[in-house]
Amino acid sequence: MFYHVKNLQFDARVSGPDPKFATLLLDQFGGPNGELKAAMQYFVQAFVARKPYPDKYDLLMDTATEELSHLEIVGATITMLMDGLNGEMKNAVENTYLTQLMGDNAKKDEIIHGAAVGPGFLVESAGGPTMTDSNGFPWQGYYVTANSDLTVDLRSNIAAESRAKVVYEYLLQFTDDPDVHRTLRFLMTREITHFQQFTAALNDIQPNFPPAIRQGDPRYTHLAFNYSGPDSQRGPWNKGQGPWDKGEEWVYVEEPISYVDETQGLVEQPAQGTTKKQNDVTRKNKELSKKRSEEIKKAVESSKMQWSQYDDPNQKNSSTKSSNKK
Ligand SMILES: [Fe+2]
Repeated sequence: MFYHVKNLQFDARVSGPDPKFATLLLDQFGGPNGELKAAMQYFVQAFVARKPYPDKYDLLMDTATEELSHLEIVGATITMLMDGLNGEMKNAVENTYLTQLMGDNAKKDEIIHGAAVGPGFLVESAGGPTMTDSNGFPWQGYYVTANSDLTVDLRSNIAAESRAKVVYEYLLQFTDDPDVHRTLRFLMTREITHFQQFTAALNDIQPNFPPAIRQGDPRYTHLAFNYSGPDSQRGPWNKGQGPWDKGEEWVYVEEPISYVDETQGLVEQPAQGTTKKQNDVTRKNKELSKKRSEEIKKAVESSKMQWSQYDDPNQKNSSTKSSNKK
């Protein structure tokens, strides 16, 4: 159940109208890295997480709720930035509060041009935010990623928070309005916070690598192919221990074409660089699938189900009465 509070989560203000910036800001309203995408992503992911991971369900739903609050802040800011250019502009630009304030024609033309950059503002919504990105592209359901495996989804969320953070960072360069700066800085900071929360939740699920259940084939996990000739760069992604367990390392394939031939299409080769054997993988697969299956079974414990447990009003009244008596 959602409940609307009229006050915004953050005291958003603007120092004056700025339709050009309002257009850019639409990206965080209806764009691929925007607040609606984040809200819908965490909301959708939460359903299957509820029974096996009730603690992470709360995190996902709470974050979705906060993202909706941010969507509201962005929408309110866009509306304030468009103020003075709303309905009045369609009739007579001369009469708007804004043009009176500006006084001069060059400035006025600039403002009109600014609004024209995002014509949807005028012809579709008369100054309110539209559910599009800054180019007028409609919001898409496929911005939302959810795969029903929490380790996969949380990684996706960490990426989403990173992208949202960097978009706010870019946006900050396109406005000098100190009030708008305060709001954007708040929104940007919350992406950092959510990044940390999702990271902590991911680390709380063990093991969380590789994502989901099945382990990789040890013949291939540690191979790093050189696809760019003798000058190919080396680093922890293809050299030494890298991210692998102690005693393991990358196996660098300097000449991939001949290597593929020699191994008959990579089939005839032993596991390399890793301490894991095929039977370790089979055992781990069984272990993990049993663990996850138990989690799911717990989630569907009977054929008759109820999502919520409500307080019994009779019990509530009787306890109220009895506490009144005291
Ligand atoms: Fe966020």
